[in-house]
Amino acid sequence: MARRITINVPDLGDFKDVEVIDVLVAAGAEIAVESPLITLETDKATMDVPSTAAGRVAELCVKKGDRVSKDDPILVLEVAGASAGPSAEPAPAAQAAPTAAAAVDSRPAVPAPTPAVETGSSRSHAGPAVRQLARELGVDLTKVKGSGVKGRITQDDVKAFVKRVLTAAPATPGVATLPRVPEVDFGAFGPIEVRPLGRIQKISGARIQASWVNIPHVTQHDEADITELEALRASLKERAASLGIKLTPLAFIARACVRVIAQFPNFNSSLDASGQNLVFKQYLHLGFAAETPNGLVVPVIRDANRKDIYELARDLAEFAARARAGKLTVAEMQGGCFTISSLGGIGGTAFTPIINAPEVAILGVSRSQTRPVWRDGQCRPRLLLPLSLSYDHRVIDGAEAVRFVVALAEALTHPDTLVEAVT
Ligand code: COA
Repeated sequence: MARRITINVPDLGDFKDVEVIDVLVAAGAEIAVESPLITLETDKATMDVPSTAAGRVAELCVKKGDRVSKDDPILVLEVAGASAGPSAEPAPAAQAAPTAAAAVDSRPAVPAPTPAVETGSSRSHAGPAVRQLARELGVDLTKVKGSGVKGRITQDDVKAFVKRVLTAAPATPGVATLPRVPEVDFGAFGPIEVRPLGRIQKISGARIQASWVNIPHVTQHDEADITELEALRASLKERAASLGIKLTPLAFIARACVRVIAQFPNFNSSLDASGQNLVFKQYLHLGFAAETPNGLVVPVIRDANRKDIYELARDLAEFAARARAGKLTVAEMQGGCFTISSLGGIGGTAFTPIINAPEVAILGVSRSQTRPVWRDGQCRPRLLLPLSLSYDHRVIDGAEAVRFVVALAEALTHPDTLVEAVT
């Protein structure tokens, strides 16, 4: 006949209101004596609280983030007959003894803590349950990066580490693996605060790194004289505004890009997965980097080559607004052929944008500046727009890249055709 007992928080010594950073069992789970139930964390140590009885978890009384003190209930356990451990009806209390894992200071939590220490991982910030798992899987915890509070290693971190190791490409003779950046205990040099990366940062960071390490990047710089373009833009701005369109230089740059890409089809290609073939796209979807409070995203304007300057300006503004509001759909960020990254609204003179793989080129745009230009025996003030074209040198030769950027600068220098209707 099953009986119910309550497992309570044991005496934690000096500690009160300790945070529950992990709940290690779920309602309905069968647990054994010594099974870790919750992980607590003080500013000094993490500790697992093990069960003092075997049985089935009937009810959880705590959740992650709760704060607990001695004698607070952790869970109600349904125990069977004689093996029930401490018994009293209806739900007697049983106190668990915490198992401390030293973080910085290994001052033991009472009573009778069992610090989990194993070679290579005793300095890692992880609870005993995590250490147990690491031991079972043969994982050296010093090699695992913690994603928990203050860099604490969680069970998921250990599993993700194992998965990464198992799915990593086998070392090929003659192919060097990437050297690792040394790990530094920043806290050893002064106070620190650890904040997890946002979801977008994690996704885009991995993609940026993949592009950076896989693609031989070269960046070609040039300047476009946009004095006439700015005069034209100023003359059209008001009319555009009356249609609800903000006509920024980026719309002209986008229009010029699609025109020039049509003349240089390599710029609208991608290497296939084998790396042996080039895929030429018969469509031209144009991506542009948009800054949002959560990180960088790249919305994609479909069939940008079929849109006039006003349609491009409207798409740019609408996508940028939706990006900032976090409302872009995944489909709206897929299928790009070429990307523009414009930092011109902010400043800068040049930069080296990273290609949005598997695209083969990206255009970086910095802030235009009026500068004296010597031409036809005269020095005149001209408005110059810095262009930085990064390209995949496996696909595009340097000569082709510079021809592309010269053609682009030329298109921007003579903007009349950019504002023509698109047929
Ligand atoms: N030179 C000088 N001024 C420029 C300019 C340039 N190259 N580009 C834009 N401006 C001006 C615009 O004309 C506008 O001025 P105005 O209001 O007086 O007309 C102002 O800067 C702001 O423009 P903005 O509203 O940012 O529009 P945009 O069309 O230039 O850019 C985005 C739209 C979405 C690209 C931009 O807001 C953005 O997010 N940029 C950051 C992209 C990024 O982070 N890239 C890095 C990737 S690593």
